Amino acid sequence: MCGIVGYIGHRDAYPIVLKGLQRLEYRGYDSAGIALYDGESLKVCKTQGKVQDLKEKFEKTTDTSGTIGIGHTRWATHGVPNDVNSHPHYSNSGDLVIIHNGIIENYDALRKELISRGYTFQSDTDTEVLVNLIEEIKKQENIKLGKAVQIALNQTIGAYAIAVFDRNKPDEIVVARLGSPLAIGVGEDEFFIASDASPFIEFTNNAIYLEDGEMAIVRRGRDVKIRKIKNDNLVDPYIQELQLNLEQIEKGGYEHFMLKEIYEQPDAVTDTYRGRMLVEQSLIRMAGVDDNLERFLNADRIIIVACGTSWHAGLVAEYIFEDIARIPVEVEYASEFRYRNPIIGSKDVVIAISQSGETADTMAAIKLAKEKGAFVFGVCNVVGSSISRETHAGAYTHAGPEIGVASTKAFTTQITVLSLIALKLAKAKGAISNSDFQYHLEELDLIPEKIKQALASNEHIKKVAHKYMNAANFLYLGRGFNFPVALEGALKLKEISYIHAEGYPAAEMKHGPIALIDEKMPVVVIATKKGHYEKVVSNIQEIKSRKGKIIAVVTEGDQDVRSMADYVIEVPDTVEALTPLLTTIPLQLLSYHIAVMLGKNVDQPRNLAKSVTVE
Ligand code: F6R
Repeated sequence: MCGIVGYIGHRDAYPIVLKGLQRLEYRGYDSAGIALYDGESLKVCKTQGKVQDLKEKFEKTTDTSGTIGIGHTRWATHGVPNDVNSHPHYSNSGDLVIIHNGIIENYDALRKELISRGYTFQSDTDTEVLVNLIEEIKKQENIKLGKAVQIALNQTIGAYAIAVFDRNKPDEIVVARLGSPLAIGVGEDEFFIASDASPFIEFTNNAIYLEDGEMAIVRRGRDVKIRKIKNDNLVDPYIQELQLNLEQIEKGGYEHFMLKEIYEQPDAVTDTYRGRMLVEQSLIRMAGVDDNLERFLNADRIIIVACGTSWHAGLVAEYIFEDIARIPVEVEYASEFRYRNPIIGSKDVVIAISQSGETADTMAAIKLAKEKGAFVFGVCNVVGSSISRETHAGAYTHAGPEIGVASTKAFTTQITVLSLIALKLAKAKGAISNSDFQYHLEELDLIPEKIKQALASNEHIKKVAHKYMNAANFLYLGRGFNFPVALEGALKLKEISYIHAEGYPAAEMKHGPIALIDEKMPVVVIATKKGHYEKVVSNIQEIKSRKGKIIAVVTEGDQDVRSMADYVIEVPDTVEALTPLLTTIPLQLLSYHIAVMLGKNVDQPRNLAKSVTVE
């Protein structure tokens, strides 16, 4: 789970690689490194810490010229984060340099074999083993770098996106992928390499996304050659035009990406349903669902697989699908699903939800479901991501790039897509009346405006954050559609402020968590005037009588809860199934402000990475 960047062409590689690493830092940020070659000397700088630390170290110690370069930002898997374990790694001769995102599982056996042939290792990494394996094969067989890489990769077990070059042949970079993403930007007589397209969007709109099991050789001033790693078959390069623009991946005046992304939600939700929801025609059009409608309608059940925040969106979807479309749904952690021999039939529809489209556990769950004959539908944000390509069909969330590690707009847009699917199926099955269907569309159409109203409570939420920023624990409670929102609120707080928080269905509180409540415990209760409102009010009273501090998220104008709570945060009213799209907004802001007030690194919380491509 790392970010890789490379450049070969006529420009100075250093600023391109450095900037690229900064953009990819969300993928891992415990160490970073760059290798450059200027035709005479190979310059490698690596450091534990952030890309900014690397910049300072590199610019202090050596010149940064060179028109070929590769760089890496790391989230450690093998070997602790330190300078030596940072990438790039080079071979014993010092000729080959490599960057790698992934894990070589059989690295230990390969390492022992190489040691027996006289190789020595400076780091604890699997990557240093790989580069020496390539060197050994290249020497033994007296073959070119590309061929040696191919043979070496066929001896490895694991996942990788790699870029490697030979200082004696500095006109080419060899890249390959299996299980980790790799995009090649195609410019005029120049190539860019990166884990996603963000590092090169100001240089070119043309990109090739390597498929799993493919390798490519990019040569300065020449065409790119792509082959299958296993059987050496040549593949025609498919050049895609990118839809990204620079503004989308920069902070646009906000202090943090997370805040920017929270504020982008009105537009993101609109982008998600635009062209799909035709309110005036009372119609939902979604190619991935339309083309497979029978599969959905004949499904015995829907199984949703996902991790983290995406799993929470899946839980919201379970309520929506069952309530509105009357289709049985099970929601599974992808990591559990894949390891427990699940019962899946050919009449099951599996929906995999993933912002990044790269999460290894979700990917493995998809493969398992496919093997067992299920129809697999993806809900992804990143266009062209591995999951979007591995699934039979799918729907993008169109949230735009999410850079902050804590997921925000991905969550609300996932719920939007899943609501559209549920409504569409409900209509097709006759499970919803025409008027109710139309009412839901109209309400969904109003959500972006209502999110804006919810965002207007920002200053008030800041005060709440200030009041409770030093609490050691938080409890989050919600019922029905808003139970998953409670889980998501607790996750947001944990991951960016490092305050312990737990989410519970409000009624479960009395089965255990109530023992935790005292005058020091802030309890965030989602108490919108829908569904089980009265029951939630009773839960609030139970907290109150144990002196817990109540922060209630209520429907605009609510007076009952206001009279009991320490703080209320209002959100506009909407149809019950869509309340999570509004109630989640104040919880995102609350955790954001607490984390900022505590001086935490909001966009890059410790130990986390944006895209979890390891199991
Ligand atoms: C939390 C968060 C993670 C991700 C999880 C799945 O804010 O971002 O819990 O939701 O790692 O990631 P994706 O959706 O990319 O599969």
